[in-house]
Amino acid sequence: MDLTTTYMGIKLRNPFVPSASPLSQRLDDLRRLEDAGAGAVVMFSIFEEQIHHDMEALDHLLSAGAESYAEARSYFPDIGEYQVGPTQYLDLIHQARQSLSIPVIGSLNGVSHEGWITYAKQIEEAGAHALELNVYYIATDPAKSGVEVEQLYLDVISAVTATVRIPVAVKIGPFFSSIPHMARQVEQAGARGLVMFNRFYQPDFDLDEMEVRSDLQLSTAWEMRLPLRWIAILFGRVNLSLAATTGVHSGLDAAKLILAGADVVQVCSALLRNGIGHLRTMIQELEAWMTSKDYDSVGQMRGAMSQRAVANPAAFERANYIRILEEYKAKYALG
Ligand SMILES: Cc1cc2nc3c(=O)[nH]c(=O)nc-3n(C[C@H](O)[C@H](O)[C@H](O)COP(=O)(O)O)c2cc1C
Repeated sequence: MDLTTTYMGIKLRNPFVPSASPLSQRLDDLRRLEDAGAGAVVMFSIFEEQIHHDMEALDHLLSAGAESYAEARSYFPDIGEYQVGPTQYLDLIHQARQSLSIPVIGSLNGVSHEGWITYAKQIEEAGAHALELNVYYIATDPAKSGVEVEQLYLDVISAVTATVRIPVAVKIGPFFSSIPHMARQVEQAGARGLVMFNRFYQPDFDLDEMEVRSDLQLSTAWEMRLPLRWIAILFGRVNLSLAATTGVHSGLDAAKLILAGADVVQVCSALLRNGIGHLRTMIQELEAWMTSKDYDSVGQMRGAMSQRAVANPAAFERANYIRILEEYKAKYALG
């Protein structure tokens, strides 16, 4: 069975890629992900805000005169071994590169295009094979148009792709008026891959405390239908590697997304919930399904059920919505 796939020009032994999450925080877990069969691994994100903090801290230290040294020292107790997030992050990438044989993908999360972009270069220098850029932007300003919001993404992408030589994937959310047009612009800004979709965490209200509550809910398998549709639509329409994220919980979910046109499937909630060993089960499930359908390779499967390939392309569009509502109404009328 040939499970190999190519992601942004990088050959992977299979399409299963643990996505950015705390699973990549420790070298031990990274090794376990590799042992469980991961085709590559995306590191957890380093945030623009963390990098800014690092820079400000460094500025503060460098500009501190003799008298303020003591004060700075009390502020940063480990001043002797000055290390905050971003430095450790680069170290971890470096160590991961040395001890893993699968590709390591760094992850940067930011919205502006100033100051912190050079950090992308440092991720490259630390040995990352590729970089994933997560632009987690929530548009709240009524004065800002969709075009302006998109431009914000494109500015960040252009600045990063102009800075590094390694391939850059962009992780986007589903909230664009035209995902295909956005995807094309992402491609034109120099990205090589598109990761769909970032899962925005939705706030809730605590009615006892009368507070906004932010808790983290892991995904359910049903949620993979959103990337399924858009990967099926984008397959063959853009020159980008396509990665699916959100709701990939089993080998069968992976099979569907590859049939839609995904080059890789990213997995997070399923591993946080079931443990890293679940990755091996997912790979076995995909293989078993491929055997049952006489597929010899992932390459043969890819895009076989994309919008362009299926007998009923309208299944992905408005016409299908009308049909399923009519069917439901008819069933409901019958009681
Ligand atoms: C605890 C946790 C931490 C995450 N951290 C990151 C992160 O640092 N960067 C990122 O791009 N996505 C992050 N994500 C999002 C995941 O990579 C993934 O895209 C999302 O959870 C949807 O996939 P899933 O359904 O397989 O969980 C995180 C998700 C979880 C649950």
